[in-house]
Amino acid sequence: MSSNKFETDAIRTQMERSEFLEHSTPLHLTSSFIFEDAEDMRASFAEEKQRNIYSRFTNPNTSEFIDKMCKLEGAESGYAFATGMAAVFSTFAALLNAGDHIVSARSIFGSTNTLFTKFFPKWNIETSYFKIDEVDQIESLIQPNTKILYLESPTNPAVDILDLELLGQIAKKHHLIYIVDNCFATPYLQNPIKFGADLVIHSATKLIDGQGRVLGGATVGRADLIREIYLFSRNTGPALSPFNAWILSKSLETLGVRVDRHCDNALKVAEFLESHEKVALVKYPFLKSHPQYELAKNQMKQGGNVVAFEVKGGIEAGRQFLNHLKMLSLSANLGDTRSIATHPASTTHSKLSESERLETGISDGLVRISVGLEHGDDIIADLKQALEYV
Ligand SMILES: Cc1ncc(COP(=O)(O)O)c(C=O)c1O
Repeated sequence: MSSNKFETDAIRTQMERSEFLEHSTPLHLTSSFIFEDAEDMRASFAEEKQRNIYSRFTNPNTSEFIDKMCKLEGAESGYAFATGMAAVFSTFAALLNAGDHIVSARSIFGSTNTLFTKFFPKWNIETSYFKIDEVDQIESLIQPNTKILYLESPTNPAVDILDLELLGQIAKKHHLIYIVDNCFATPYLQNPIKFGADLVIHSATKLIDGQGRVLGGATVGRADLIREIYLFSRNTGPALSPFNAWILSKSLETLGVRVDRHCDNALKVAEFLESHEKVALVKYPFLKSHPQYELAKNQMKQGGNVVAFEVKGGIEAGRQFLNHLKMLSLSANLGDTRSIATHPASTTHSKLSESERLETGISDGLVRISVGLEHGDDIIADLKQALEYV
């Protein structure tokens, strides 16, 4: 465990310098690495030495990125993936056998939900779900074949908060592998391992890149579990590219300052929306009106950059609002420097049935704002003028 502060580890975790003594990390665009002789080749494959062999297994850039992620999350080990979904899929596929069972929060990212409902049943892996207000019923969902307890907090897109510590205790009591998707919080705002998580998953595409350039993912946590995930991944090929790892490792150097500003802007946006007469509901973890405000304060440093809200007048009013935004982008991404508005019911969560959407707080009129790094006054001015058309 590192004794440095977050910002220092985010900057000073760096691969060994080459003979050129470069200050900034160089990019190692190479698919493979050479061996000194036949014995070196044999010993390397036998894992008698720790070294790079082939970039699907490891590469200096992916190792730097994942070493940094491990320090920032307080994890023993990790593996870097090409996307967040590659991290989610490979983590579950590596750890589960046919016939195993997952207990998952109902509010999860749309593609993760599709994985659980459409693809895993092909391998006889079933999932039982609990809603945000059904945490007391989790134990009744656990079966003899349950292997994993899974959740996101804050949730996408309704930014609900689950009690990480309480769920960690349940997982421990029932010997389940406890996995948290920490994408919305980033390691800067929340460290699920402190609350008992065995593994933490990230879509690095979001705030970790933070500039809308590259896709990436990571799973970090218990070394014995990561070993299984590594063996699965080195043979199936979801590895992060060295170029994207180089970008993401550089991005982590500024994660703290960027997320501080994202959160300041998001709180201002949430307060503005809450005071607006045409807004029916605002959800932001650090708004006092958020149903899990105290819990959010307890487990997160700040509220994150996503604000969810509903305009009065339902879907048509929501459409008018989105169509009149001048500066905010309409895009499915989040965690960019540019503020983004999305309509989850018709995009990221459109594969859910209407009742599943309502169970997860995604009404037809819900708008998700990923608050960016433009000046807060300008973001609010754009929201204000678009609300005039509602
Ligand atoms: C919470 C969460 N997990 C996972 C993912 C998937 O990440 P990626 O798009 O990098 O595959 C997303 C994407 O939006 C997400 O919001």
